[in-house]
Amino acid sequence: MTQFSRESIRPIAIIPAEAALGAEVRCGRLQSIDDTIFGEIRQAWLDNLVLLFRDQTLSDAQFLEFGRRFGPLKSAAAADSHNELHVVSNVHVDGLPIGIQGHGEIVWHSDMVSFSKPPAASLLHAIVIPPSGGDTSFSNMYVAYDTLPKALKRKLAGLTLKHEVSPDSAESGTGASHPLVCTHPDTGCNALFLGSRFNTCINELPRHESDILLEFLWLHATQPEFVWRHRWRVGDLVVWDNRCLLHRREAFASNARRILLRTQVEAGEPPRIAADALERPVHRRGLALIGR
Ligand code: OGA
Ligand code: MN
Repeated sequence: MTQFSRESIRPIAIIPAEAALGAEVRCGRLQSIDDTIFGEIRQAWLDNLVLLFRDQTLSDAQFLEFGRRFGPLKSAAAADSHNELHVVSNVHVDGLPIGIQGHGEIVWHSDMVSFSKPPAASLLHAIVIPPSGGDTSFSNMYVAYDTLPKALKRKLAGLTLKHEVSPDSAESGTGASHPLVCTHPDTGCNALFLGSRFNTCINELPRHESDILLEFLWLHATQPEFVWRHRWRVGDLVVWDNRCLLHRREAFASNARRILLRTQVEAGEPPRIAADALERPVHRRGLALIGR
């Protein structure tokens, strides 16, 4: 006999992944959710860092509308464009690419870290997915911070990282600097903010010391225990918190087709570290991994 509990008729279910971050949310069509349900989604996003919604069929406008519930959307970087919708694809039509990012590996990164205010959130909606390859992985930077030795946490609290757009931009100094440890404005917890392994250096250290420390932090931060890997299906919508995780995409065959819609949500403030950072609580999602 079917039992109907209060729980089973709730219009939203949040199913945490068996990993240090990530959850699947089941709440039906995203174009039909009300503010109460969105409140639960937003909280689940802060709690789990990255959310997956399966079987969505959103028009471009509906996708942007859902993104806008997290906050104002960022326009494309190009000065002549105010488009908030980006196509991530390797597909060419009439010899021209329909989107960005190609078919190669995208190494671990957070989005747009060389900007003074990197996006708070990024959303991807899968339209066409290749039969294999192109999985996207996410690594929890709260747990990466919380599992560091206390003495290192004290040292990192005083350091900032310079994020250059390319090796050539070092002299022009166009990239932003951000604290190496950032206190999340909504959760109040600290996360490592590494951005990109390339074209970064710690402002307060000589170059060779900066390289040694960053090498260590990158190995630590991308260890498999901290990672959730997502195998895409058509209709998936994924939204991640760009302030407290790294992500990477695996390569896929150049003759396969992959098309996703992307939009990014503006952050309310630039990344910062709280004055009492060393006293902050750990983020609960990765707690099971801490204290090894
Ligand atoms: C990006 C990105 C991941 C993917 O567009 O910034 O990281 O799975 N994409 O395509
Ligand atoms: Mn990215």
